[in-house]
Amino acid sequence: MRIYRAKDYKDMSRKAANIISAQIIMKPNCVLGLATGSTPIGTYEQLVEWYRKGDLDFSDVTTVNLDEYKGLPRDNEQSYYYFMHDNLFKHVNIDLSRTYLPDGMEPDSKKACDDYNHIIHSLGGIDLQLLGLGHNGHIGFNEPGLAFETETHCVDLTEKTMKANQRFFASLDDVPKQAYTMGTKTIMQAKKILMVVSGKDKAQILHDAFFGPVTPQVPASILQMHNDVSIVADEDALALIPQ
Ligand code: F6R
Repeated sequence: MRIYRAKDYKDMSRKAANIISAQIIMKPNCVLGLATGSTPIGTYEQLVEWYRKGDLDFSDVTTVNLDEYKGLPRDNEQSYYYFMHDNLFKHVNIDLSRTYLPDGMEPDSKKACDDYNHIIHSLGGIDLQLLGLGHNGHIGFNEPGLAFETETHCVDLTEKTMKANQRFFASLDDVPKQAYTMGTKTIMQAKKILMVVSGKDKAQILHDAFFGPVTPQVPASILQMHNDVSIVADEDALALIPQ
């Protein structure tokens, strides 16, 4: 595990974008695993800026996202499909037919998950998986207590996660209660992992995930067992991590 210390959110975003750029430059037809949430937004902005300058080419890149709310149509501004288009896909020269997210509008959970697992397998796996870190240690929507060895599955979101996401919806009642998410096993099979973490409110969980015991109670702690993890975090998030 490598920890890259960033001064602040902007610096974190730039450093993370550098790692993703290096991946695209070294393997133009790579498979990128992508994340939504507030933390990677600056990373996507930086990638878009470099694309506009002519420094990056997404034309051969394939993407698979971590997760999607079950039941939200693609044109709902809170769907992760919408998020990815808004923050990255519509600004770069990526081939949209090679950008994948779980199908949130597929009501049959088993079908939605099997289809997504099939896509990931047929792509030959993920070269670099970008992750954020939930306040309860979740990665994707893998909530505390779930088995580590899952592939894409349907989860009931915890109240804590629904409350954390409430800021994006009109009310708590509007927050979807289920999501399709890549499982921990799928994430662990990515060749490289890049986690971005920002803010004081993530300091304790960042510490617990990487310096505490490996336990399903802290889903991100399984990443201690992965052999190529880079964490890019700002000073606030690193407050409890020894220098
Ligand atoms: C997003 C995702 C989530 C977020 C996590 C942190 O696709 O899967 O695990 O990475 O909830 O979210 P933020 O960055 O908003 O704190």
